[in-house]
Amino acid sequence: MNQWTLFLIILACIILVILIFSVPRKKIERIVSIEALDDPEVAKAFEKMTNFFPFKILRKRIISELKHYDLHGILVDVGCGSGNLAVQIANEFNDLELIAMDLSKEILNLAKIRATKAHLDEKIKFKIGSVEKIPLDDKSVDFIISSLSLHHWYDPKLAFKELLRIIKDDGIILIFDFRRNSRRFFYGLLKFATKVVVPNALKKINEPLGSLKAGYITEELKAMFSDLNIKDYVIKPYLAWMFISIKKSYDL
Ligand SMILES: C[S@@+](CC[C@H](N)C(=O)[O-])C[C@H]1O[C@@H](n2cnc3c(N)ncnc32)[C@H](O)[C@@H]1O
Repeated sequence: MNQWTLFLIILACIILVILIFSVPRKKIERIVSIEALDDPEVAKAFEKMTNFFPFKILRKRIISELKHYDLHGILVDVGCGSGNLAVQIANEFNDLELIAMDLSKEILNLAKIRATKAHLDEKIKFKIGSVEKIPLDDKSVDFIISSLSLHHWYDPKLAFKELLRIIKDDGIILIFDFRRNSRRFFYGLLKFATKVVVPNALKKINEPLGSLKAGYITEELKAMFSDLNIKDYVIKPYLAWMFISIKKSYDL
């Protein structure tokens, strides 16, 4: 690489950083987004989109976050979608039994196909179910992961109560999701990506931009957790997403 190329790369990086951080965060009211993954076209389009490079990076980020925990026993992936993350977790962590759960039969079928192709159908069990009424026993799981699903839950308070019901007393709930007050740059990027690469079936339901607008902000989550008497939690906000980890306290 010659000096000029290096100079141009550094200049491009500086401009990108300025673009990202000079424009203030977006401030908009939350717009609820209902996902229609039971429509076969939408489910297929979603499956296609989750194979795009940015989603791969986000899954890598989630896996590296999971490595901070001592994972063992039963892990449930809530709102598992087409099973990309569940399959990666199964490959990465040997000592786990996995349950992948989703509301949509259509998308869960795609997840089953993915697991079969990866020879993981023994290791991952699939369940249809809503996070507001989880088909699992009280205190029956060790760890719960959920990625990019929280913003779709139609009754988040009930959902958190359910997650706390099924998790064992020392268990962890780790949620990864968009944050609505992300940098305007990211809104612009998603708008551009929607025009250029997002499949038509998703454009029609205003995804993925609709998901970003449906995301929560830290203050809303804190208020919700306070109402639910959830005290032992950490919210780590990043550029356009956040990690929320909740440790079940014994008095919940
Ligand atoms: C954007 S997709 C994310 C899928 C996957 N976790 C990923 O990161 O690729 C959101 C998923 O959450 C599921 N979902 C939405 N609301 C749900 C609910 N109330 N209970 C269970 N799953 C739900 C949808 O069916 C969908 O598969």
